[in-house]
Amino acid sequence: MKMFQKNTVKMYLFFFVFLFNSCTANKVADSLIQKSCKKITKFLNKDSDSIFEKDCVASLRENPESQKVRNIDELTVVGANNAISNLTNVRRIVENIIKEKKYKSRLSKKLLEDCLKLYSKSFKSLTSGLNYCKVRNFGKAATNFTEAQDAPIFCGIKFNGDNKQISPVKKENDFLITMIEIPLQFAADITHSH
Ligand SMILES: *[C@@H]1O[C@H](CO)[C@@H](O)[C@H](O)[C@H]1NC(C)=O
Ligand SMILES: *[C@@H]1O[C@H](CO)[C@@H](O)[C@H](O)[C@H]1NC(C)=O
Repeated sequence: MKMFQKNTVKMYLFFFVFLFNSCTANKVADSLIQKSCKKITKFLNKDSDSIFEKDCVASLRENPESQKVRNIDELTVVGANNAISNLTNVRRIVENIIKEKKYKSRLSKKLLEDCLKLYSKSFKSLTSGLNYCKVRNFGKAATNFTEAQDAPIFCGIKFNGDNKQISPVKKENDFLITMIEIPLQFAADITHSH
C-alpha cells in the first residue's frame, strides 16, 4: 500500500513537472514570436502599419510547430513552412478558378495562368530557401525568399487599372507577400547580426 502511494505521488510529481515544462516552453516561444515580429516590423519601417506585426504574430502562433522553437533560426523555418503552405493554398484557389471557368474574361484567365507560372517558380525558391535555413545559410535563404516574393508582387501588378481586370485572388495574393516577408526579414536579420 505504501509503495503504491509513493508511486502515485511520483506520478503526480512527474505530471506537474511535465506541465510546468510545457508551460514555460510555450512562454519562451511566445515571447520570441512577439519580440521577433516587433523587431522586423520596425526594420520594415511599418510602425504606422501594425497590421504586419499582428499578422506576423498570429500566423506563427497558428502553427503548432512554433511552440517548440527556441531561437529565431527555428522560427524562420516555421515562417518558411507557413509561406509554402499559404502559397500552395493560393495556387489551388487559382487552379480551381481556371478549371471551373469562374474567371470574368479571357484576359483574366490569361493573367491567372501567368500567375500560376510565377507561383511555381516561387514554390521552388521557397523550398530552396527553407533548405538553406535548415543548414543555417540564412544569406542564401534570404536571396531565395526575395525571389519568391516576385510572384505575388508581379501577379498583383498584372491586374492593374489600365486593363480593367480585377484579380479574384487580390486579398490572398497580397497576404502571400506578407507571409513571405516574415521568413525573409528573419533571415535578413540573422545575417545582419552575425
Ligand atoms: C494564409 O495564412 C494565413 C495565416 O496563417 C491564413 O489566415 C490564411 O487563411 C492563409 N491563406 C490561404 C489562402 O491559405
Ligand atoms: C536559391 O538561391 C541560391 C543562392 O543564391 C541560388 O543559387 C539558387 O538558384 C536559388 N534557387 C531558386 C530556386 O531560386
